[in-house]
Amino acid sequence: MKIEIRTTVNGREMEAMVKPNQTVLEWLRDDLRLRGSVEGCGVGVCGSCTVLVDGRPVSSCLMLATNIEGKQLTTIEGLATGDELDPIQQAFLDNQAFQCGYCTPGMIMAIKGLLNSNPRPTEEEARDYLSGNICRCGTYSEVLAAVKSLSEGNGTKQ
Ligand code: FES
Ligand code: FES
Repeated sequence: MKIEIRTTVNGREMEAMVKPNQTVLEWLRDDLRLRGSVEGCGVGVCGSCTVLVDGRPVSSCLMLATNIEGKQLTTIEGLATGDELDPIQQAFLDNQAFQCGYCTPGMIMAIKGLLNSNPRPTEEEARDYLSGNICRCGTYSEVLAAVKSLSEGNGTKQ
């Protein structure tokens, strides 16, 4: 059995048939072939699967696809505009804020959510907000440097 949903993914309105027990992460990767969101833990503790739902970060491994009915979903694939990277993606490059890159899409989406709600976070605020995003390569200081550069670009509040 499948259930019909209407939703918007990366600015594109769509109708889709989803399984009742299918997570947003499974739906994105298996049905839409959007594979930038990745599974780390699968139980909501690592943040690698983070997407935005109505502008707020969500662990897509925990949310059922049926629950995005009528909502705006944004994935890492929706950030760049053509060849122009999102400022967060550019800040990650400029600050070398990744090694293997496995956590990076989720980390960037979490930062997007942070900056949506707080455009000039202090380091403490950024640390607190990103505490649910784990990087096994230990790039935390570079990630915080990227957030700091974005915060300063938005006007300094340190
Ligand atoms: S895979 Fe979703 S939080 Fe770890
Ligand atoms: S860059 Fe490897 S897990 Fe974060």
